[in-house]
Amino acid sequence: MKKISPLQIDGNIIEMISRQWMLITAGDEHNFNTMTASWGAMGELWNRHVAIVFIRPQRHTLGFVERNSLFTLSFFDERYRAALNICGSRSGRDGDKVRDAHLTPCATEGGSVTFNEASMVIECRKLYADSLAESNFIDSSIVGAIYPERDLHRFFVGEITGVWVR
Ligand SMILES: Cc1cc2nc3c(=O)[nH]c(=O)nc-3n(C[C@H](O)[C@H](O)[C@H](O)COP(=O)(O)O)c2cc1C
Repeated sequence: MKKISPLQIDGNIIEMISRQWMLITAGDEHNFNTMTASWGAMGELWNRHVAIVFIRPQRHTLGFVERNSLFTLSFFDERYRAALNICGSRSGRDGDKVRDAHLTPCATEGGSVTFNEASMVIECRKLYADSLAESNFIDSSIVGAIYPERDLHRFFVGEITGVWVR
């Protein structure tokens, strides 16, 4: 893969996150977990290029993101839609969904994990973590609509430390 600057990312990032989806992965090659995500953001914060991801408390991936300083965002072309559906509907707690999805884990430069099949990989170093609070919603209709079980997301702001494309 070729390393590029975050400023050289090609395409509409809103479309890529919300429609193409991505895998959030954390851990090392021997012990990692991954999950599909379509909520998130990218831009500039604190004079750095950042990505922000939102992970519900019950996701197995959450503990991996909490315990590791890096996480990766992996994007795939349409051929891997089934793989992303598998990683977004089964928990790594219950079995080897990466094997079932026919994805091949590999290490990033910083020692985190992505997949050989990815068309773009964004490696991030955690800068900030917090959990959304019900009392902070200005539009409180979101709480009832999105969080009937009050499982408010934990979010992580990560500094983009590397972007690789095929
Ligand atoms: C298209 C799609 C988008 C998703 N986006 C998110 C997300 O942004 N945040 C989240 O917490 N879960 C999201 N999920 C749900 C997780 O991917 C799903 O619960 C997964 O099985 C969790 O796996 P884990 O328990 O191994 O972490 C999404 C699922 C799909 C199919």
